Amino acid sequence: MKVAFFSTKSYDKSCFEKHNKNIHELIYLEATLNKHTVNLTQGCDAVCAFVNDQLDASIIKKLKDNGIKVIALRCAGFNNVDLKAAREENIKIVRVPSYSPMAVAEHAVALILTLNRKTHKAYNRVREGNFSLERLIGFDLYGKTVGVVGTGKIGQFFCKIMLGFGCRVIAFDLYPNEALKSLGVTYVSMDTLLQESDIISLHCPLTKDTNHIINKKAFSKMKKGVMLINTSRGGLIDTVEAVKALKNKTLEYLGIDVYEQEEKLFFQDLSENIIMDDVISRLISFPNVLITSHQGFLTREALDQIATVTLKNLSDFENGNPLKNEVKFNT
Ligand code: NAI
Repeated sequence: MKVAFFSTKSYDKSCFEKHNKNIHELIYLEATLNKHTVNLTQGCDAVCAFVNDQLDASIIKKLKDNGIKVIALRCAGFNNVDLKAAREENIKIVRVPSYSPMAVAEHAVALILTLNRKTHKAYNRVREGNFSLERLIGFDLYGKTVGVVGTGKIGQFFCKIMLGFGCRVIAFDLYPNEALKSLGVTYVSMDTLLQESDIISLHCPLTKDTNHIINKKAFSKMKKGVMLINTSRGGLIDTVEAVKALKNKTLEYLGIDVYEQEEKLFFQDLSENIIMDDVISRLISFPNVLITSHQGFLTREALDQIATVTLKNLSDFENGNPLKNEVKFNT
């Protein structure tokens, strides 16, 4: 199949080339998919898209007009896709439901350890000959209460790592996981989680119900001095309220790999540009905020898995096989 491959980065291209073996004709495009670039799909059968490509109803309609039959998401989340519109246009959506959940869980832990023990600051200091320990004090993770929102594939790996540190792990999920309970995770209400956690880590998907799940009210219930980690989707946190919580010191640490307005920023080198987003500029200015630009998934193992599953999804569609990884619209 001829596939318009949007938002291509060098690591995507090298990994897909390694696994494709000329089965599909992959047209690598650096542009993200949006109303200005959608016509690059003319003459193609399929689109391969990533987290910040726009797949709303108007784009999907144009894709249909251009002859696109299937959209292969090379990611797990599908909050950027209008599934109803895709069904109406009879365009199939396939995704990679799981690609190294360990990678994202481990990145969440990296954010915690860096924020806590300030290794990023120590690294810069020592390089400049500053061997002082002033203002580098952290805290023991051992014995602290970690609240995990969403204990699916990523959340459960995260729980196990934090149990390994000797933390008390409490969790909130619509569907508690019995195996995790037997390992020592205690399921509690969202309110209890907010009230008791020293560290809160978000691992649920972004849906209508979870949009701004961490809002003004949620911040008001948290312990003063809490650490908040989000490697899931930016929209889970009301970022303007997070800035207020940092200012009033409810939030003592914030670590995010995702950001509400990330599609205008992430995955690009904007180092010579003026950043027009005042909220992220404010966040960057805090000494106790650590931002990474959606790199939680970025391990060799995850990239291999993303490429092999995406290519298989495309081949299954082309060959009329059952689509194991199809995402359907649920009314
Ligand atoms: P999953 O579907 O295996 O688990 C999600 C869990 O959240 C499920 O157990 C579900 O019951 C729970 N959940 C759903 N609604 C909830 C609610 N209202 N309150 C509490 N829990 C709720 O998903 P997985 O693979 O663990 O991924 C989680 C999220 O991580 C994805 O939706 C995606 O947004 C994000 N992600 C981020 C990546 C990154 O690079 N930073 C890479 C991959 C995924």
